[in-house]
Amino acid sequence: MTDLSKGKRRIVVLISGGGSNLQSFIDGCADESLNGDVVAVISNKAGVKGLERAAKAAIPNITLDHNSFDTRAEFDLALADVIDSFSPDLIVLAGFMRILTPQFVNRFLGRLINIHPSLLPKYPGLHTHQRAIDAGDSEGGATVHFVTAELDGGPGIVQAKVELLKNDTAEDLASRVLAYEHQIYPLAAQWFCEGRLELREGQVVLDNELLPQGGVCVEIEERSQSH
Ligand code: GAR
Repeated sequence: MTDLSKGKRRIVVLISGGGSNLQSFIDGCADESLNGDVVAVISNKAGVKGLERAAKAAIPNITLDHNSFDTRAEFDLALADVIDSFSPDLIVLAGFMRILTPQFVNRFLGRLINIHPSLLPKYPGLHTHQRAIDAGDSEGGATVHFVTAELDGGPGIVQAKVELLKNDTAEDLASRVLAYEHQIYPLAAQWFCEGRLELREGQVVLDNELLPQGGVCVEIEERSQSH
């Protein structure tokens, strides 16, 4: 369990793109709804908007291009070393679009979390919103989960469900889900930062209670999108 005597938790955020989830962490740390500091942002792609967001918030930001490495294992090792140089308590995958090796995942097991834009275990992988629409689902959503070696297969921490409307396109649904992501992801991180959340023998424990497979399902109030 996280040692609360240490003050603010050190958070490293990994991105590959726009970084709107990263922004929700930056904002949460700034208004202290999140008892942490984003101490570094690492992107595997140069020039993405998330890096600008980090720079604007005066957060060290690093590009580590996976194309500069011969193998996935070499990239993951270099990435892990950069992460460790910031001594993080929590590593947050926020739209980080790389499959990670088991060696990487196991190095950070229990302090590595991800957000995925579906109600896992439904629709791991890509094109989640289109797949929900094609399947005729009545709802979509997002899941925050601990990362394990199985792609999008780690145990859930928190989910938000979003009603799928009759004429929704994948873009419509993605945009509504994203607004909910910005609420549940910092919330899950805050539970971690408060020492209330842990991965124990492959299961998620919140306030000493085992969570169901997908995690807690929270009711989210509609907010206008600010990111
Ligand atoms: C988010 O919708 C996130 O759930 C998704 O990428 C988007 C990143 O947006 N992640 C995945 O699909 C990971 N499998 P952002 O860069 O604006 O935070």
